[in-house]
Amino acid sequence: MVRYNFPEYKLELDIPEEVYFPAEDTFFLIRNLNLNNNIKSVYEIGGGSGIISIILAKKFEKTRFLVSDISSTATRMIRSNCKLNGVDSRIDVVCMDKLNAIRHLSPEVIIWNPPYLPEDSETKKLPIADKLMLTGGKRGYEEIFELIISLQNSKANTSLYTIFSSIAWDEVNCEEIRELGIRLEITKELKLFFEKLYLARIDFGDYNG
Ligand SMILES: C[S@@+](CC[C@H](N)C(=O)[O-])C[C@H]1O[C@@H](n2cnc3c(N)ncnc32)[C@H](O)[C@@H]1O
Repeated sequence: MVRYNFPEYKLELDIPEEVYFPAEDTFFLIRNLNLNNNIKSVYEIGGGSGIISIILAKKFEKTRFLVSDISSTATRMIRSNCKLNGVDSRIDVVCMDKLNAIRHLSPEVIIWNPPYLPEDSETKKLPIADKLMLTGGKRGYEEIFELIISLQNSKANTSLYTIFSSIAWDEVNCEEIRELGIRLEITKELKLFFEKLYLARIDFGDYNG
């Protein structure tokens, strides 16, 4: 395992090979999240190294966080990276599938930089840990779609910030979500060499923060 320095954010992270290394999508999300200064609670799904919640916890000193990851290695690293950066007292870390173990969802904001690539003959050959980091189902967006539907059914008042890639997502998919009565707005786009990333804000219930 190697310790990496992220001077722009004044943080250090231990990241083993089996844990997602922060990439363009991670920083695109961090740079463009527009959170209210008085925000009290944030849940992050798929924390990976913990980078997103750790940066936010350093910026929003009164906010409490709950971070999940389906990978037990990632969960352990999130815990130890929170300690390393002095924010562990405000960040609870749980190994679970999305937020499935929580009955009453109450955060103002949920964040997920999800695995979003479609499964194909190449990704099928990947070890399970890599697959979990990268692929979101046969078409690439099944995992995030499942979360959206469960948030809609749970009647939570919250905003979900997530990322879509042009490799697995287009305007038709946005319309499918809007047709369910869910408010979805693409707040930022980033053109990369082989794909376009979209930051989406999806509001549930009457949350409008
Ligand atoms: C693209 S990585 C993002 C990691 C980190 N948040 C970042 O932006 O650098 C996706 C993360 O989601 C986790 N993940 C995949 N499926 C999940 C699920 N069903 N529930 C919780 N976490 C999941 C993976 O283990 C991985 O850590």
